[in-house]
Amino acid sequence: MKIFFSWVGVFIWFFILVLPKAFSNSLDSETGRDIFFKHCRACHGDKGDGKTFAANVLNPPPKNFTSENSKQELTEDRMIQSVTEGRKGTAMMPWKSRLTQQEIHAVVLYIRKSLMQLESPVEIDGR
Ligand code: HEC
Repeated sequence: MKIFFSWVGVFIWFFILVLPKAFSNSLDSETGRDIFFKHCRACHGDKGDGKTFAANVLNPPPKNFTSENSKQELTEDRMIQSVTEGRKGTAMMPWKSRLTQQEIHAVVLYIRKSLMQLESPVEIDGR
């Protein structure tokens, strides 16, 4: 009986603690990736390096997220701001009417994590 209860206990804790977290994280990065591929890839490229067909005709060109310069220059806050409000005088348009704050957050996180290879797990949890 004791064994039964302790296993049930572990099982329940697993559901309460582990699953929602794993689920919300993967959900987030999937949402972010989906949004990136749907809305951002045409200019910023699969790898986020800005080497796209569109880059030939855009001045200034889309940001190369993978450059050292970008990694230093682009804070998470600045990226969220730029995606929300756009960059005046550039092809980077404001997305606030098309994406929710949560979606903007998710896509910025995707860029930082998967394309810029930044971002510690702590910051992901800290939202
Ligand atoms: C029509 C082309 C285009 C699309 C689509 C596009 N961008 Fe951009 N993006 C640009 C250009 C051009 C710049 C460079 C702006 C500059 O130099 O200030 C840029 C810059 C950025 C920056 C850096 C801004 C800064 O603070 O320097 C971020 C972050 C960004 N884009 C994210 C996104 C995200 C996320 C999406 C999709 C939701 C997206 N972009 C879609 C063209 C595009």
